[in-house]
Amino acid sequence: MNSYIRGIGYYVPEEVLTNQYFESYLDTSDEWITQRTGIKERRRAAPDENTSDLGKRAAEIAIKNAGIDVSEVELIICATATPDTLFPSASCVIGHKLGIGGVPAFDLAAGCTGFVYALSVADAFVRSGAYKNVLVIGAEILTRIIDPMDRSTCVLFGDGAGAAVVSATEEDRGILGFKLHADGGYGNLLYLPARGTAMELTEEVIRKRLHYTKMKGNELFKIAVREMGSVAVELLDELGVDKSQVDWLVPHQANIRIINALAKRLNLPMDKVVVNIEKYGNTSAASIPIALGEAVEDGRIKRGDLVLMVAFGAGLTWGALLLKW
Ligand code: UT7
Repeated sequence: MNSYIRGIGYYVPEEVLTNQYFESYLDTSDEWITQRTGIKERRRAAPDENTSDLGKRAAEIAIKNAGIDVSEVELIICATATPDTLFPSASCVIGHKLGIGGVPAFDLAAGCTGFVYALSVADAFVRSGAYKNVLVIGAEILTRIIDPMDRSTCVLFGDGAGAAVVSATEEDRGILGFKLHADGGYGNLLYLPARGTAMELTEEVIRKRLHYTKMKGNELFKIAVREMGSVAVELLDELGVDKSQVDWLVPHQANIRIINALAKRLNLPMDKVVVNIEKYGNTSAASIPIALGEAVEDGRIKRGDLVLMVAFGAGLTWGALLLKW
């Protein structure tokens, strides 16, 4: 039994924040943001929209594209670092909003690598025969945990969601393998000090802006370039797939310079790389399913193509997954 992505969908909120928006109140420039990151715009959720709302919208499209009824979903996994509340989980809320209460649901916290981790979990459940249709979601509202006054982070992140229905098949297609890694020793390079149990949300904590994401971008950049390349090569070697056989690289969209370096390491021309960072910025666990969803929707990714996903994020976590579309 193989597992494959039977349907994919994505949803991004309507409001567009351009680089000019940040120029209007911060010491930054469109030129700096574009050259250093490749980002031109990102989306921001409306005040009454929560992560579960974005996830639900993406899930509905994925279910429709899979050609199944919502009642056929047997498990929901939502990869997110920004659930509506610490508990209940975003996946429970999404299940309720989809009208499928009773279906098991859990969140998965692996930062920007979350969707790759969640796909690998779905693959294991499907291959074991436990479930036939698993709904995998990556959904984030990062603009609510980013300091709007910190130019080194607020220009980078955006909101959005992507979803996939992972189903069982006996056909020769689907998830071929994955490699996952994590190293908590690097946790302090990208973290949210307060809002968890480590730090009570006092007035002083808020005054010190410790309820917002802290990132050492420069150090992360070097590790991302090194580890994303290594894990991709490690996976391809293990599967006996040559780099030249990869039809599409769908990398996590954190920085165009990281994506360029990864493509170079894999000897892949940029026309085989799915890039949408200019439109959405870094949407963490949502970035790979949004990019995959766009490339499937516009016909770039076709049946039989070898698709390599590579991600890197808070934890630190990193991983790669290869599938035959
Ligand atoms: O999603 C997974 C995890 N995240 C990542 O993988 C992110 C990886 N890191 C990066 O993408 C890059 O490191 C950044 C885009 C975050 C930063 O780019 P950089 O080329 O590494 O810049 P830097 O942090 O070394 O900063 C260079 C300069 C600094 O000024 P000084 O100290 O040289 O005077 C910063 O203060 O750029 C300054 N700077 C800015 N200037 C204008 C930082 N942010 C901005 C800004 N506008 N928005």
